[in-house]
Amino acid sequence: MKPTHKLLFVLCPMLVLGFIYYSSGKLHIHVWGQKTQFDADLTPVALTKGAEVKRTTELEADITVGRIVGSEYDKQGFLLKLDTKLPLDLRYKYGNLSEGVCKPGFAAAKMTTIYPKFNKLAPMFLDRNFKHLAVVSNYLPPFGFKTQERIIDSILTVTKSYGLGDELDSLSCKRCIIVGNGGILANKSLGSRIDDYDVVVRLNEAPVSGYGKDVGTKTTMRITYPEGAIQKPERYEKDSLFVFSAFKPLDFKWLRQMVFKEKLRGTEGFWKSVAQYVPREPTEMRILNPYFIQEAAFQFIGLPRNNGIMGKGNIPTLGTVAITMALHNCDEVAVAGFGYDMNTPHAPLHYYETVKMSAIKESWTHNISKEKEFLRKLVKANVISDLTNGI
Ligand SMILES: *[C@@H]1O[C@H](CO)[C@@H](O)[C@H](O)[C@H]1NC(C)=O
Ligand SMILES: *[C@@H]1O[C@H](CO)[C@@H](O)[C@H](O)[C@H]1NC(C)=O
Ligand SMILES: *[C@@H]1O[C@H](CO)[C@@H](O)[C@H](O)[C@H]1NC(C)=O
Repeated sequence: MKPTHKLLFVLCPMLVLGFIYYSSGKLHIHVWGQKTQFDADLTPVALTKGAEVKRTTELEADITVGRIVGSEYDKQGFLLKLDTKLPLDLRYKYGNLSEGVCKPGFAAAKMTTIYPKFNKLAPMFLDRNFKHLAVVSNYLPPFGFKTQERIIDSILTVTKSYGLGDELDSLSCKRCIIVGNGGILANKSLGSRIDDYDVVVRLNEAPVSGYGKDVGTKTTMRITYPEGAIQKPERYEKDSLFVFSAFKPLDFKWLRQMVFKEKLRGTEGFWKSVAQYVPREPTEMRILNPYFIQEAAFQFIGLPRNNGIMGKGNIPTLGTVAITMALHNCDEVAVAGFGYDMNTPHAPLHYYETVKMSAIKESWTHNISKEKEFLRKLVKANVISDLTNGI
């Protein structure tokens, strides 16, 4: 045998094995027990592992198949063809529910059809076992909680509750809506539709009082960071959870002072003024699992890893973090008030103030356009529904 042929015999199986390894995460859509066409095609190749060597021509054919499979996904691991249907058993299951009835597992099932790597398990909030969350324990804030373990421990000792509350936690099917702050919400009278959701998530200081007709009156939780938190104690609505999302180590110190009702000592290191007092009992406070920031940034959107440290353009916006949380913890997910339309510079940026769209500046921390690409995939694939059609 010629040396070049020998080389081919060695090289081809290696290429095939390399490809199988690379694509195994993408091909194994085993979660719903469905085998794909390509699984069947590749099985014989997998069996050649190390031992029998196939004829070169066959291997080449297999590699060609491989290339086709590889190109079915984008860089982030999302299927390019976003109108892929659910497995038949789920289509029947959901098809047999009456119109408007909550579909158990719907968002996660849809997500899995376009993003096979999706693993639903990720708790909403940190609880006393948080140190066992391996994926976040090795990252600094905002992508994890490394260096903050002691402070988190002391906070969680007094907050004592780590769920949504008995009533919501016991629901067998939860419909969640994330209400963004976009001006697109104004004058659409979506308030009562928003209030119909089991879980209404609001962000930062977006007001409810006076805007009920358009944004609803119910707030299950308000996710916030120090600079975004409502500053006037009287503006906090009753009966909502104060959910804290940390972006820098200093944020945890601030939270401890809010939880223990201590006087805030110095506000150095914050990029704008922060709330001095949060009128909430510790049992109404939660710490959002930082995994959602990490997953949104690196897996879903594909922002620069920067060695796992906050850097230019690698922090997802709070809205996208909230959507990521909901994909893992809600059966159905909707959004409203998301999306900036740069073609209408005179439209209001937020529903509650007169600042115009044109005031938006290029952000150092966020990458709005890349983030929008991700959200578009979710909407196009019907993983989430967008009540205001802004995404
Ligand atoms: C309801 O389920 C049965 C099988 O369980 C199926 O044959 C039928 O098509 C389903 N109905 C709808 C509307 O999907
Ligand atoms: C909403 O309606 C009010 C009252 O009619 C009007 O003043 C305001 O400009 C409208 N806002 C938008 C964004 O259309
Ligand atoms: C956003 O991502 C795109 C594509 O990766 C890149 O070209 C652009 O510079 C990024 N913008 C920011 C603000 O980081």
